[in-house]
Amino acid sequence: MIKTAEPLILAVETSCDDTAAAVVHGNAVLSNVIASQTVHNDWGGIVPEIASREHVKAIGHVVDKALRDAEVTPSELDALAVTYGPGLAGSLLVGTQFVKGLGLSLNKPIYPIHHIEAHVYSSYLEEPTLPMPSMCLIVSGGHTALFHVESWTAHTIVGSTRDDAAGEAFDKVAKMLGLGYPGGPHIDRLSKIGNATAFDFPRGLRHDEGFEFSFSGLKTAVRRTITAHSTIEMGHGVDRVAQPLASTVVADIAASVQRAIVDVLVEKTIAAAAFYNVQTVCIAGGVSANSELRERLTDECSERGWQFVAPRMSYCVDNAAMIGFVAAQRMQAGHPPQEEFSVDPRPMRSR
Ligand code: KG4
Ligand code: ZN
Repeated sequence: MIKTAEPLILAVETSCDDTAAAVVHGNAVLSNVIASQTVHNDWGGIVPEIASREHVKAIGHVVDKALRDAEVTPSELDALAVTYGPGLAGSLLVGTQFVKGLGLSLNKPIYPIHHIEAHVYSSYLEEPTLPMPSMCLIVSGGHTALFHVESWTAHTIVGSTRDDAAGEAFDKVAKMLGLGYPGGPHIDRLSKIGNATAFDFPRGLRHDEGFEFSFSGLKTAVRRTITAHSTIEMGHGVDRVAQPLASTVVADIAASVQRAIVDVLVEKTIAAAAFYNVQTVCIAGGVSANSELRERLTDECSERGWQFVAPRMSYCVDNAAMIGFVAAQRMQAGHPPQEEFSVDPRPMRSR
């Protein structure tokens, strides 16, 4: 390939259940390969032990494909990048050990990258001219947090979830309703036919002054509603008898849950942007695929004359292009690589 001054980087991401590799050339994504582990669907959630084993099976092929798609040979690379955390310890170890081995054999420097930081900057991968500061909402199965992004190195969490992540709430509710995993896309689809005002589910911490989230109360309220609608009173001293939930009730619960989740995500994001006097709003993470969330944020931002960016889905979900992109920014800014580093599975906390 014809190289320019921008760094050519091979990046690997294995923090959860997707084995991903990408080749980036500065801001340009030359390849972006994601192998999603579908084996977890049968378990209704991610099984960490299975996730690590699947990463071991896939990683060699995924990295090979990323290099082939980009038409790049390993010797042409300037550096390697890998997610060191947060995530599942076993999964992170597969990616970091693979990259450390590759770094040694190819004699290439390594940039360990924080997974959430990469999500935060993925909007800049989509739109390199996007202004800073910005307010970035990260919403996935594992994370829900608002970041005030001031520069390539300065970003602060201004609020995060106290309990479940938004995606986890979508997944748990979907499971209770007997829908498949992951639940978000099912709830999103049913919300288009259900009545979003049929049930008034709790909006956690809605009136709290800060920018924190809470979704655990929602789960309990949904469970109660399901119980109330899936049993009938027989009277005359006979206990309640179970009956299947009517499909219209399932759709109404789905739509009302989505409305409750989206309401708080949108209200807190807009309030945080206003508080920090920021006119640029971004979202990333799997839940940012949600159609109602995208529509509502688009409308709220355009009403205020603010810019709103939602990166394409292949940059929103877990992917290695965002990891390589952040590494490229670091390298161009003169940050040194790191040969010695450990995985750090711990989630990020609000300040
Ligand atoms: O970022 P992601 O692919 O993986 C991590 O969790 O890191 O996010 C997956 C999450 C799941 O909880 C899934 O239910 C949710 O994103 N999701 C959605 C939608 N598509 C995926 N949630 C709501 N609406 C959607 N359309
Ligand atoms: Zn993620």
